[in-house]
Amino acid sequence: MAFFVARDLKSLNTSSSSSRFQAWLRNAPLYTLSVLIGVTLILVLATTPATGADKVALSVDASKSGAKINRNIFGQFAEHLGHGIYEGIWVGPDSSIPNTRGIRNDVVAALKAIKVPNVRWPGGCFADEYHWRNGIGPADKRAITLNPNWGGVIEPNTFGTHEFMDFIDQIGSQAYVSVNVGSGTPREAAEWLEYMTTAQPTTLQKERATNGHADPYKVPYLGIGNESWDCGGNMSPDYYLSQLKIYSHFVRNFNPAQQEGPQQMLKIAVGPGGEEPRFVEWTETIMKAWQHHQWSWDMNGLSMHSYTVGSFPPTYKSVGFGEADYSKILQLTLQMEGLVTRYSGIMDKYDPDKKIALVVDEWGAWYAPTPGTNPGFLVQQNSIRDAVLASLNLNIFSRHADRVRMANIAQMINVLQAMIMTDKDKMVLTPTYYVFKMYVPFQDSTFVPVTFDAGTYKYGDITLPRVDAIAAKDASGKLWLALTNLDPNQAVEIDASVAGMNAKSAVGQTLTAPKVDSVNTFDAPNTVVPQPISAKAEAGKLILSLPPKSVTVVSVD
Ligand code: AHR
Repeated sequence: MAFFVARDLKSLNTSSSSSRFQAWLRNAPLYTLSVLIGVTLILVLATTPATGADKVALSVDASKSGAKINRNIFGQFAEHLGHGIYEGIWVGPDSSIPNTRGIRNDVVAALKAIKVPNVRWPGGCFADEYHWRNGIGPADKRAITLNPNWGGVIEPNTFGTHEFMDFIDQIGSQAYVSVNVGSGTPREAAEWLEYMTTAQPTTLQKERATNGHADPYKVPYLGIGNESWDCGGNMSPDYYLSQLKIYSHFVRNFNPAQQEGPQQMLKIAVGPGGEEPRFVEWTETIMKAWQHHQWSWDMNGLSMHSYTVGSFPPTYKSVGFGEADYSKILQLTLQMEGLVTRYSGIMDKYDPDKKIALVVDEWGAWYAPTPGTNPGFLVQQNSIRDAVLASLNLNIFSRHADRVRMANIAQMINVLQAMIMTDKDKMVLTPTYYVFKMYVPFQDSTFVPVTFDAGTYKYGDITLPRVDAIAAKDASGKLWLALTNLDPNQAVEIDASVAGMNAKSAVGQTLTAPKVDSVNTFDAPNTVVPQPISAKAEAGKLILSLPPKSVTVVSVD
């Protein structure tokens, strides 16, 4: 366990810098000590943060291993919201934008490259107002409805079940379908699952075949409602629990290939949305009931939503900010550690064997909408700060991989902390996209403990760890390190020693940018793109220089 990193942020103060300083003093040659003590005292008395000790000793023991880092923690979320689906994915078969059956080719190619393990759809709040029958059958006969949650705009329903499944197939991913508990019925949801998954010649199977897909679809993940304590119906914990039991029993997956073993559909219940007491009560209620549940209902995951937002309505800008907001947002995002720890602790009480996964199926930065855009479309820019933020969260999930086995960043395209932005035929990849791409080797890897003194990065009254890191071994046994330098001003030298293997070199990529709010735009798409980085072992140590505000991933040979 990386205990230096996992500690409570409140305990991160100057003591860490001073212990590094003391360690450095112990190692300094004696003849320089007296001079240096005097000079150093002057420096310490000055109020500027320590800059002389920008070396971090990091040790990995490649012979040790922890939990599997489930590939599903790199999942995505695509809601019918703004231009997330329409324009972002779906342009229609008649569009001049190159597409395959209406799904844009450039987006598919980009998503294939990050190996998206699962996509949560159709919402979000939208899911609890979605009626699946509106989204099947001939496109020109589909109901035209409204999307009251997100700008009150027209929902053409041209992207429905078949289009979603086609999209999933094209990008090589898996479906995480959220059914409507808020304004739907158990029957509606049960019939949707029968429509999607049965191989038997029922009326619904025949209807699916008529609509172009005779074979059953696979639905590996089922969300039972969304934020049912809020936009999903403002339910009390007990009321939701009664709904969960009903939906869990009746909403069946009939796909013959999903009846047993690891192929079985996993059911994910609504869980907490923050640290308020009502979410603790919610989690206790669901987990306590599950502990002694009857055979007739079950669940495999409990969802958790947590945005890096400050407070609603969001006020932090996504671009055009300085170091104050950079450090504040990173401080806020690190609260994920406390939330995951807290809810894992409650789950441990009722599920010590960790059968139920904590599924962080909405996370990411939520900023003030880009001026001039529809505020209901949740459009924001994506900067190097978001790349650093993404890596910190992925590291937290990885350190809790025994419990956090799935997560979905919000959202995939054009909405909130997106991977991709589109504007008509143009597409740009965001800094967050590149983090997901660099972290691909961590999908289904095995966590390897890493220890280091994170040090401190200070801005005003904000004190953060300067460095974060995780290590893992992939299926072939190759060791990977992910290293984040939060400090926007100082490079950090990592002196990595690897026990359990004769490490000779490290090679990979690093992502940084000129300014804390540097972004990629349609006109300048390569401002924040990964650059090669490598290191050779010197005296048994791999020395890597992490640029300021950077995310680095290397493999060790
Ligand atoms: O991601 C945007 C919205 O945030 C989702 O629809 C909802 O579940 C959450 O409140």
